[in-house]
Amino acid sequence: MTAARARLAILISGRGSNLQAFIDACASGRLAAEICVVISNNPEAEGLRKAADAGIATRCIDHRDYATREEFDAVLAREVSDYRADLVILAGFMRILTPTFIEPFSGRLLNVHPSLLPKYPGLHTHQRALDAGDSEAGVTVHYVTLELDGGPPIIQARVPILPQDTAQTLAARVIVNEHIIYPLAAQWHISGRLRLTESGVCLDGKSVPSTGVDYRQEED
Ligand code: GRF
Repeated sequence: MTAARARLAILISGRGSNLQAFIDACASGRLAAEICVVISNNPEAEGLRKAADAGIATRCIDHRDYATREEFDAVLAREVSDYRADLVILAGFMRILTPTFIEPFSGRLLNVHPSLLPKYPGLHTHQRALDAGDSEAGVTVHYVTLELDGGPPIIQARVPILPQDTAQTLAARVIVNEHIIYPLAAQWHISGRLRLTESGVCLDGKSVPSTGVDYRQEED
């Protein structure tokens, strides 16, 4: 008898390249999970088509149909619960979530952010790194808490910033790493190796550094 695979709900707003990385990781067996639903707040999201092409259930919950963030979040939470998701993956989901959604999924809600948090929470991260004259940029996967892009980091991958970089060329270098470390963090979580505890993130029973595991040093 094989163990039941973990159920993932993936929330998107746009292109869905991270979603595609999860679809591929599930198909290859690198991630012992199934994607039970993909939900978008944006009816035009290209990722909805990627999910449908992979035979995954899709839902669109258009935030413009709700008067408040809390009403939208309550409907979103109900939908994710109805699909009995074990882990919720924010993959380019461009809505600020309220406690109505975050609290019920605390400790099983992950996000990917295209900067080396705590640097550059929010938008336009690559341009901000260039404007600041940084020598490196990167990506962080973190547990989601009530603070926007402020939840405890799990893993980070770093890339160099080159003299000729634009926000677009830098983004292209970073996103390759998003596609590697995000499914990896999810696999750690669903296999029970990774937990959010009162004192922070633990991997294999040990606290991870405050900026997360450095992917360059990671053996897996
Ligand atoms: C990624 O850069 C992710 O880090 C950010 O939004 C972008 C989503 O890209 N949160 P995609 O929709 O997964 O291609």
